[in-house]
Amino acid sequence: MIAIDLSGRRALVTGANSGLGRAIALNLSAAGARVAVHALNDRVSAETVVEQIRQGGGEAVAVYGDVSQPAQVEKMFAEVDSVFGGLDILVNNAGMDGAREMCAGSDPEHWRAVISVDLHGPYFCTRQALRRMLPQQRGVIIQITSVHEFIPWAGYSAYTSAKAALSMFTKTVAQEVATQGVRVLAIAPGAIRTPINADVWGNPDSLRDLDQKIAMNRPGEPDEIGRVAAFLASDLASYITGTTLVVDGGMLIYPDFNHGG
Ligand code: BGC
Repeated sequence: MIAIDLSGRRALVTGANSGLGRAIALNLSAAGARVAVHALNDRVSAETVVEQIRQGGGEAVAVYGDVSQPAQVEKMFAEVDSVFGGLDILVNNAGMDGAREMCAGSDPEHWRAVISVDLHGPYFCTRQALRRMLPQQRGVIIQITSVHEFIPWAGYSAYTSAKAALSMFTKTVAQEVATQGVRVLAIAPGAIRTPINADVWGNPDSLRDLDQKIAMNRPGEPDEIGRVAAFLASDLASYITGTTLVVDGGMLIYPDFNHGG
C-alpha cells in the first residue's frame, strides 16, 4: 500500500487558521508532520487548529505575524526554529482576494496591499525557508496560487497579477535550487468553499453562476486541496518541481464547450 508519510518533517503553513491553510495544516499533520500554524493575529482561530491537531495525536504550535513585513517574517521563522529546530516544508497559503475594483477607479493603496500579502509575503517566507532548507539539502516549498494565475478576473487585477507573478517566481526559484534537494512548486486551486468566497457559494444565485464555471459543477472542499498539499510535500512527489498543479474541478477546461461550439 502506498501511503503519504511526512513523519519527522517540520512544516510551516501560513494563514493556517482558516480555509485552505487550516485544511492543509490538518492534512500535513495527519501524514505525520509537525506543523507551525501561522495566523496574522487571530489567536483564537489559530489555537483552535493547534488544539485540533493535538487532539488527533499530532504536534503543533501557533505563530503570528504579517507575512508582508520582512522583520515579522524573520521573527516568525526564528520561533519555528526554536520549537522545531528547523524546517522541511513551507506552504505559502496566506493571501487575500482584495476588494473588487476596476482598474480605472481603483485605489493604489488597495492594489499595493494585495501585492504585498499575495506576492511579497511568499517571497519573504520562501527566502527564509531556503536559508534553512539549502544547508540541509532537503525541503519542499508549496505556493498556493489560484486558477487566476491563468484566468483573468475583472475587478481583481492586483490578485491576478500577484498570482501570475507568484507562478513565475516559483519556477525561477525552483530552477535555482533544483540540484540542492529543494523542490518549489505551486497548487492552483479553483473555487473552494472557504471564507474567502463565502459570499459567492453562500448565495443560491451566485452559486449557480459559479457552478457553471466549473466542469464538475460544484465548488471544491478544503480537504481536496489539503490532501494534494500533503502528497506534493511528500517523497511520493520527489520528481515534481517548478510547476503548478491545478486543482479546480475543471474550471480551466472551458466548461461551456460541453455544448455548442
Ligand atoms: C479566489 C476565490 C474564487 C476562485 C475562483 C480564487 O482564487 O480566491 O474567491 O472563488 O478563485 O474564481
